[in-house]
Order: sequence, then C-alpha cells, then structure tokens
Amino acid sequence: MLEAFLRAGIWMPNSCNQGTCGTCKLQVVCGEVDHGDSPLETLTAEERAAGLALACQARPLAETEVALRGSEPGRTTHVLRDLTATVVGVEEIARDTRRILLGLEEPLAFSAGQYVELLVPGTTERRPYSLANTAEEDKVLELHVRRVPGGVASEWLFGPVAVGDRVEVRGPLGDFHAPDADEDQGEPMVLIGGGTGLAPLLGIARTALARHPERTVVLYHGVRVEADLYDTDRLEELAAGHPGFSFVTVLSREAVRGHRHGYAPDAFVEDIAGARGWSGWLCGPPPMVEAGVKAFKRRRMAPRLIHREKFTAADAPAP
Ligand code: FES
Repeated sequence: MLEAFLRAGIWMPNSCNQGTCGTCKLQVVCGEVDHGDSPLETLTAEERAAGLALACQARPLAETEVALRGSEPGRTTHVLRDLTATVVGVEEIARDTRRILLGLEEPLAFSAGQYVELLVPGTTERRPYSLANTAEEDKVLELHVRRVPGGVASEWLFGPVAVGDRVEVRGPLGDFHAPDADEDQGEPMVLIGGGTGLAPLLGIARTALARHPERTVVLYHGVRVEADLYDTDRLEELAAGHPGFSFVTVLSREAVRGHRHGYAPDAFVEDIAGARGWSGWLCGPPPMVEAGVKAFKRRRMAPRLIHREKFTAADAPAP
C-alpha cells in the first residue's frame, strides 16, 4: 500500500520500509488487508484486531479504505520512482567507507535527507542509502557507504563496482528530510551524525544554510577513530562561508588532539546549555539516536522539533 500511495504522489509517513519502525501504521477503515511480513513486535495482535496495518507491508485484498493517523496538510510529496543510474564516481573517503556517485538520465525530485534503495546488481536484494545531496543536486546522487562484512551490497560496492556500471535505483523514500521552505523559520539547528549518518545531515545543513545563511547550525560527527572521519574539508569550507555554522568531530575509541573524545550526544550536552526553540536532527545507529533524543530533551528541545533516522542493519548478507 505504501508503494501505491507514494507512486501516486500521495504523502504517507514512512521510514524503514521494512516493517520495523512502525512509522507507516495506518487505520483500515473498511475492506481487508493481508499483513504480509508485518512483525508482531511492530504490529501487535491487538493492533491488527483493532484494524491497524503497516502500509509498507500490507496488501489490500479487496477495495479498502484507510485513514492516516495524524496528518500533515500541505506536506511536499515526491513521487516514488524507479530509475536506472550509472556509477560515475567511486571514492575511498575513510576507513571502509566509500563515496558512490550515481548519474541519472533525468532528475529525481526529493527533499534533502531522504534515501533511495539500490537493487544490488546480480541479486534481488535492495539496500537503502541516504542521499547527501540538496534537492537542487538532482542529477548526480551522492551516497556514503560503509562496508558491512558479508553484506550483499558491500560485496559489490567494495568489490567489482566500476564507473560505467548500471544500477537500478528506487526512491525517494523516508520522512527524514529538511523542512519545506515555507515552514522553515530559520531556527537554530543541531545535527548529530554517527559514521555515514553524516550523509543526510550534509544535505539538510546545506539546505538550511542556503535558505537562512546567518542561522546557527551546529553539526556533530561521531565516529570510533580518526580514520573513520571524512569530509572535514567540506565542513570547514561550509564554516568558512557561514559564520553561524560550526562542526565538532567526536571520537569514541581514541583520544586525538583536535577532536573531542567520547560520544557526540554528550559533547552536545557539554557545549550547549539550552536548546529551547532549536530543531534537532539525528542520524546513525539506534543507540546513538536514542542518546541524542535524550540529550536534546535534556536541553529543553521540543519533541516535535526532534527528527531522527535510525540506521538498521542496512546491508545484511543475502538470505
Ligand atoms: S514499518 Fe513501515 S515504514 Fe517502517
């Protein structure tokens, strides 16, 4: 059902597209659905009995009417599309981390922060990757990819991938994205990314600064060791052009001069005494995101201004 709505350009909340986050839960008003692979942890037996369904897993079995739980009127929706892309760049950017650039024949409309799925060549497996682009950078998609040992996409992206390869792309997906221009009040922002969770934050921060060049934007990039850091030159360039932008690199497993030692959410709590009226953006492994939510609340950020994207085991081995 989710796919049908998104392909028709109708907004529906969604995040993981795998039945694990519960974002796409909706109410079946009448009709009947097959819940497919909906896990019981995400959609309990009681919820099924009460007529709830996960849009990303359910298929209608008859004419079915559904209602969204809560709505966001006027929300920008980009049509979900299938495209064939060409690999135009493969760059080693950090330890076990690559930047992959995918050229499109026609532009893809999306909001900064959303993700696409790649159909791994030679398999039937799709893997999600956040876009590091702003919405204007719509002809060459930029992905940051971390190697997952045995991961089906890693086998390709850290193996035979080559410039000129063709790959099927589906997107855009996800609710983690920069606010629509007419809703963006230019409030101060803090962004915390773990590892390649930096990717969507780069798109969101650059979008926010293009709209309000003077706004305060603080970005924390948390990784394990210095060799995991990347794009610091890009962040320095952004800081040089925007006096309100600053970034902090945080290493959890080693103490190195010039970087903070510890965890990025803790560094935020140490640095910023109050974040009332700020918006917060978190992308990375679930424990980091959960710690980030707590840190934001501790500094009085309103829950409605906290946005998060959890990386699940994105590139598991093929079943
Ligand atoms: S459970 Fe459907 S989008 Fe996450």
